Amino acid sequence: MYRIFGVSPETFVPTVGALLELIHPADRQSFDAWYTACAQGGATGELVIRRIRPDSSRRWISVRGSLTKRSGDTSGYISGTAQDITETKDIEEQNKLYATKLEISLMQTVDVITAIFEIRDPYTAGHERRVAEIAVAIGAELGFDAARQQGLRMAGYLHDVGKIIIPAELLSKPGKISAGEIALIREHAQAGYDVLNKVAFPWPVANVALQHHEKIDGSGYPQGLKGDEIILEARIVAVADVVEAMSSHRPYRPAVGLEKALAEIERGRGAGYDADAADACLRLFRDKGYQLPR
Ligand SMILES: [Fe+2]
Ligand SMILES: [Fe+2]
Repeated sequence: MYRIFGVSPETFVPTVGALLELIHPADRQSFDAWYTACAQGGATGELVIRRIRPDSSRRWISVRGSLTKRSGDTSGYISGTAQDITETKDIEEQNKLYATKLEISLMQTVDVITAIFEIRDPYTAGHERRVAEIAVAIGAELGFDAARQQGLRMAGYLHDVGKIIIPAELLSKPGKISAGEIALIREHAQAGYDVLNKVAFPWPVANVALQHHEKIDGSGYPQGLKGDEIILEARIVAVADVVEAMSSHRPYRPAVGLEKALAEIERGRGAGYDADAADACLRLFRDKGYQLPR
């Protein structure tokens, strides 16, 4: 213990006050509470504290202790162990930092893909980003945790990546399109899946791309899936996709508008669109003052 705390047994008297002096100020309160619980014979478990050495080096220390009493004694003493866990802690922190950097660079890569798409198809610029933001808001409204929300964001950004197979002239073609052209446009769902399925995302990004045009009643494409056969993330992105698309201008029509988009979601609630996702979307816009992302 003396070695771990960096003190000498000749000069250091291990009272609680003296120990507190050795501990990082931010950890003193928790150590004090832990020590008091120990002294009262309570269950204490592990406590991790930081020790700042006189040379300013920081050490992480794990302490465990319990009250030891001999029969007949009114008071006892605290016995326990202290373990230097600095190396493990440092590795943990490095891993956290690495994971954060990796997540940032992944998001930046996705931004690049979106930017390339916007050069090719400037008429729908911002569609993917806005769908992502609306989907995340719906997910949060439905109680998704941060990790699952991040998956929705990624899926929103990439749901139309399969549109790369559609010629740019068709994407921006004003006026009516033929049945053959509609069939080609519809292939973007499967094409997106084929590309994204090769990436080991920790979220169901490829399946969102595949299923975001499916409808709850089975009238969607490409597989005509029904209800729960469609993953929840895809049902959410489907709602976000319709709201964004109807609210935005397209080469073949002016913007329909948010109000009509919400009316469409309300009309199709439970038939075309997932009831919970639709309700969450309507609540956000109508009751909670959520604004369409710019
Ligand atoms: Fe799509
Ligand atoms: Fe879309």
